[in-house]
Order: sequence, then structure tokens, then C-alpha cells
Amino acid sequence: MLFIVKKIPYKQLIKIESKSWLLQKPKPKWAKDIEDGKVIYFESLQFKLSKHEKKLFSPTIIEPHTRNISLNSNGSIKGAIGTEEDIKALKAMIERFRNHAKNLIYSAFPEYKPYLKLAPTSFRPLDVVSRNTSWRADDKRLHVDAFPSRPNYGERILRVFINLNPHGVPRVWRIGEPFENIVERYIEKIKPYSYIYAKLINLLGITKALRSEYDHIMLGLHDAMKSDMQYQKKSPQITIPFKPGAVWICFSDQASHAAMSGQYMMEQTFHLPVAKQYNPKKSPLEILQVKTNKKLT
Ligand SMILES: [Fe+2]
Repeated sequence: MLFIVKKIPYKQLIKIESKSWLLQKPKPKWAKDIEDGKVIYFESLQFKLSKHEKKLFSPTIIEPHTRNISLNSNGSIKGAIGTEEDIKALKAMIERFRNHAKNLIYSAFPEYKPYLKLAPTSFRPLDVVSRNTSWRADDKRLHVDAFPSRPNYGERILRVFINLNPHGVPRVWRIGEPFENIVERYIEKIKPYSYIYAKLINLLGITKALRSEYDHIMLGLHDAMKSDMQYQKKSPQITIPFKPGAVWICFSDQASHAAMSGQYMMEQTFHLPVAKQYNPKKSPLEILQVKTNKKLT
């Protein structure tokens, strides 16, 4: 794998050697690394595709104006178009990935297992480059995940990704500086939290729940990073082409990342309460509480 390194004084990408999704002996270092906001990757974990499944790798499988195909935990699928057989095969393929992702996370971080909540599993058959978006929604810019309509009160966002491109095309990511450095750089520039404004946007249905001060700061960091083109170009970062077969995991609310190019990726999100981390002090919630000297929710 080729890494393009731009003046980065810390290791933000950690490789684990394994051919299996089920890791035999979890190492405490893995939990430390992931909770430090690093990206952990596996060069090649097996994900065999049947003949029929290979046919599903086409942008025509996704509904127009849709970004992802997603499979809910109840087995319902959203965003896909195709024959009954195609949909059945699609569901089975996405579900197989979900099971692999569960095995990987449960075996790497066994203490998380009882507390993880599973989000829908997504298949992204569109080319990253072809997406037309505003700067705020542009995931080609370095950012930490924070969602304008979905406050999460500090709950962690743990994600597993796999590149399944059948044509050998890598999924290219940039990984940026540690979360603490981002906080240091931008915290003073974020406008103060307004409970009245949070209440208003909740009443208007702009948010699905009341945006907390924590969510406000996280969105502020997300926007400050994405809107700062100097930062995008000049900040410490590495560029990594994840080849087909590569699997990578991170807390995406903490690890600064940008998806630059690639097509045909699957992703599984897990949510984890901060208190159930190996070391809750490493969470964005705790880091922001220390920095602001405030109890945040
Ligand atoms: Fe993201």
C-alpha cells in the first residue's frame, strides 16, 4: 500500500495482520489505538462474491438521487432498484458483511460487545467523485462526523468499512491530525451555544431531538474544518489508497477523515455509550468537557 505522507508527526493509521474477520487474541493496544482516534486497517479480509452478486456492482442498482443502499436490522432495504432476485441477493450480500463486521468488532473489542447498538448497514455503489454537494456535505474535505439533524449527546460512532471494488480501484482516504489538535485549533472560533436556538430548530423539525451543547460544538468543529481550505490543504495528513479487500475501522466522530475517491464500499456503524469505552477519558465528550471546563451532554 502506498502512503503519501505530508509532515505528520504521529501515527494515525495502524495495521493489524489478520486474514480472518474473527480475531483470535484481542490486544489491549487495539482498544487504546482506536480510542486514541486512530484508524485501524486490515489489508485483506475475505469477502467472496457469487456470480449473481458481482452483477449488483453497478450504479444502476441504486435509486436516483440516493446516496446509499441501506439494510435495516429488521431486514428491510432502502434505496435499491432491481428484480426481486437482485434485491434478495443484495440483502444477503449486505447482511453477510454486517455479520463479518460484527465478528470483527466483537472479537477485537470484546468489552464493547454487550453495549453496541447496530445501525443500518450501507452499500455505496456510487463514485465518490461524482457526488455534487455543498461544502458542508462534502466528505472529500477532512472532518469528524457530526450530523446537523441527529444529535447524539456524545454517543460514539464506530464504523467498519470495506472496499469491494471489482475493478481494482482503491478507495482513497485522507486521515488528519488527532482530535485534541482539532479542538485546540478551532474551539475558540465556535460561536456560543444557544438553548433557545436549539429549541427552535427542534420545534421546526430541523433536528430530530434537542441539539445539546456537545452536539453544537461537534458540528462547529465539523464545519470549521470543512470551511477552512487552508486547513484542508496544509494541515498534517496522510493519503491512503485502501485497495479492494481492505477493511478499516475507526471512531468517525474522533478520527479526522475524508473520502477522496472510490466506488463500491460497504459500511457498518455501531453506536457505543461513552461510559462503555475501555477509557472514557479518551472520548470527544470528555476531551471537550476538560477543554471547556463544563459538564456537557
Ligand atoms: Fe465522515
